[in-house]
Amino acid sequence: MAKNTNRIIAVTSGKGGTGKSSICYGIGYTLAKQGSRTLIIELDFGLRCLDIMVGMAGKVQYDLGDVLSGRKQILDAVVTVPSATNLNILCAPKDAFMKVTAEEVVAICREIRKYFDYIIIDTGAGISSHVFDIVEQSNMILVVTTPDPICIRDATMMSDEFYKRGNKRQRLIINKLSKKDISSGMISNLDDIIDTVGIQLLGVIPEDFALKEATGKGTPLPFNAPSLEAFDAISKRLMGEAVPLTIK
Ligand SMILES: Nc1ncnc2c1ncn2[C@@H]1O[C@H](COP(=O)(O)OP(=O)(O)O)[C@@H](O)[C@H]1O
Ligand SMILES: [Mg+2]
Repeated sequence: MAKNTNRIIAVTSGKGGTGKSSICYGIGYTLAKQGSRTLIIELDFGLRCLDIMVGMAGKVQYDLGDVLSGRKQILDAVVTVPSATNLNILCAPKDAFMKVTAEEVVAICREIRKYFDYIIIDTGAGISSHVFDIVEQSNMILVVTTPDPICIRDATMMSDEFYKRGNKRQRLIINKLSKKDISSGMISNLDDIIDTVGIQLLGVIPEDFALKEATGKGTPLPFNAPSLEAFDAISKRLMGEAVPLTIK
């Protein structure tokens, strides 16, 4: 099957803590395992977590801050993840007050996209024009929400703003769907969530303690982790495969 290569995917949400970074990691990991050369760029300045998630805490020498300040070339700050050789990361600076412009992000992506099949951008949370400008430069926007009504409202506001700006390349990810959500009839409400936010669904990721544990400790996701199956399906859909939605 032909791969949809060379795509820049921005992962964003209205509210913080929806799971953007975990999703960047999960999708990046599965795309890499499926053979795509993948880079995750972390733009959540001051809230760096990608190095911990991939098991490289304290081992990342250079970051985006070194690139932006001109101290290092981009590829000098790109680190390959030992547990998934096709997965690479470019970590956020530790300095929360460092600024990056949409133009700088575009220039970085333009310079290095030839080395990767997918570039996944982990944006900070929030409805700021700064985030919009950056996200709009991507080929696809993944809007993340949880089943929580406040989170759905924030995702809707975000998506409406993208529509207003003429951007139709949005897909929805519903994260942290719990067994309780399922037993209380939330599944039948998934369509309501999709209708409210108004964008096509790309995937549903279950609430999964194994994901929390693996990303917190920097250990690989266990092969039987429920979220791994969801990430695998999302990655295949990104590559153009028709993978049915399964919710357990
Ligand atoms: N599907 C999930 N199941 C369980 N915990 C999750 C899931 N997705 C994210 N989390 C947890 O939620 C918290 C916030 O996730 P994170 O990826 O840091 O969100 P964000 O980047 O949007 O702020 C973390 O503790 C993370 O482990
Ligand atoms: Mg984050």
